[in-house]
Amino acid sequence: MATKNLSNGNSNNHEEETALEHIIKSLETPTMKCEGTHFDSQVPHTFVIFGASGDLAKKKIYPTLWWLFRDNLLPKPTKFCGYARSKLSVAELRAKCHQYMKVQPHEQAKYEEFWQLNSYQAGSYDQRADFVAFRDHLDRLDCSCSCNRLFYLALPPSVFEQVTVNIKEICLSQSGWNRVIIEKPFGRDDVSSKKLSDHLASLFLEEQLYRIDHYLGKEMVQNLMTIRFANKILNSTWNRENIASVVITFKEPFGTQGRGGYFDEFGIIRDVMQNHLLQILSLVAMEKPCSCQPDDIRDEKVKVLKSIAPLTLDDMVLGQYVGNPEGKGEAREGYLDDPTVSKDSNTPTYAVGALHINNERWEGVPFILRCGKALNERKAEVRIQYRDVPGDIFEGNSKRNELVIRVQPGEALYFKMMTKSPGITFDIEETELDLTYEHRYKDSYLPDAYERLILDVFCGSQMHFVRTDELREAWRIFTPVLHEIERSKVKPIPYVFGSRGPKEADLMKAENNFKYYGSYKWHGKK
Ligand code: BG6
Repeated sequence: MATKNLSNGNSNNHEEETALEHIIKSLETPTMKCEGTHFDSQVPHTFVIFGASGDLAKKKIYPTLWWLFRDNLLPKPTKFCGYARSKLSVAELRAKCHQYMKVQPHEQAKYEEFWQLNSYQAGSYDQRADFVAFRDHLDRLDCSCSCNRLFYLALPPSVFEQVTVNIKEICLSQSGWNRVIIEKPFGRDDVSSKKLSDHLASLFLEEQLYRIDHYLGKEMVQNLMTIRFANKILNSTWNRENIASVVITFKEPFGTQGRGGYFDEFGIIRDVMQNHLLQILSLVAMEKPCSCQPDDIRDEKVKVLKSIAPLTLDDMVLGQYVGNPEGKGEAREGYLDDPTVSKDSNTPTYAVGALHINNERWEGVPFILRCGKALNERKAEVRIQYRDVPGDIFEGNSKRNELVIRVQPGEALYFKMMTKSPGITFDIEETELDLTYEHRYKDSYLPDAYERLILDVFCGSQMHFVRTDELREAWRIFTPVLHEIERSKVKPIPYVFGSRGPKEADLMKAENNFKYYGSYKWHGKK
């Protein structure tokens, strides 16, 4: 990995240059480069954070900016400018962020340098005059003839429209490029999402919009294209003739952790399935793009999404967690015990849904998306289960092959296969070919998803960002069932905090051609 030794913070100029050059080069190679853009390492940049006093900013955005700065990955000079309603000094902002910044003792000088480049301005989100004052502040910072601006919207959806209008009318750089980074929720259904997309399209070009789905910044999700299209052995089995079913899983061992108010409005389908899991599905199922250009890839993702029929309740199991009286701390509380959640809420905290892709490669292969909170473990993975070997000669003892792409924790790719049991025997048993990153790439530094994505925005690469038409297709697939759940007040099945989720979900997987043997345990990650 190129970034292996970047985090020591005391590199000399030569090392800095080498590291920076390498990253820029890799982002600018024909494989990743976005037409007409490049990394302007000489031009001043300003990174603006709207909602700078909020949770996302302090837990994710400021820490990410600090790590990128620490590792000399940002163009010089880059300045950071916070804006929010609360009156704060930079020192107060720094104090709020500090516990998330992971600063090592030897990085102290660099850390001071980072905060020297920061400023903060308080203002409302709807008053023109406040934005004019902010623009004047930004202009004073860029005392050069050209400057690029990045606007990060770490904001609640309620102020989204006003802020984007004010950015467009008042805050844009007149002398360089402008890019806008936005976070989900991108609406609640097809209609509200279209309204937001139309609003953004009336202000900005698609090339200026960077919709973050942070799962697209994860190592193993970014690896999917290489796994599929750079390996003859896999690519030729990647179809309905060989694959029985695909399961894409997201599990978290904690509940809503005080975010109940937000979560109750959205639920697990909108929070995880419609975006993170569907994005993974599209990379697993799409046809090979004609190049690695971002729009060639996104064209293929859209194409496969278009072949998916809307999800129906018949193809789903929904769950909601209840407290475990024998559990500790948070585990004793059920979803409905959260004071910010309404007592009769039917919002699912667990969902499994089987999607069907109507094309020549995948007809008849269920893609099972499974996600939930308050479960028995933390895990995100893709599991490709192959068909039974025809013409069995092992008396039914042979089990299906599985290729598992483990996204987190502990990045890995392993292939479950049958082997003869070693020794004087002719028995057969399950084993694996194992590419566990912790073993194979011991010294590699795998950056956080946000580090990769924010750097991509500086470089102008939209490969790992969601295009408007991808979003439209995602909502087309999920809106009918979401409305149905709300309209018919469908009751989710209760499951105990810390369990595997509702038993009905296992049944549903079995009905969708996924065989669970329970006889194998992968030892890659404790
Ligand atoms: C977010 C969801 O998008 O992803 C959260 O809103 C979820 O509910 C989170 O916890 C999971 O992200 P990660 O990177 O920790 O797997």
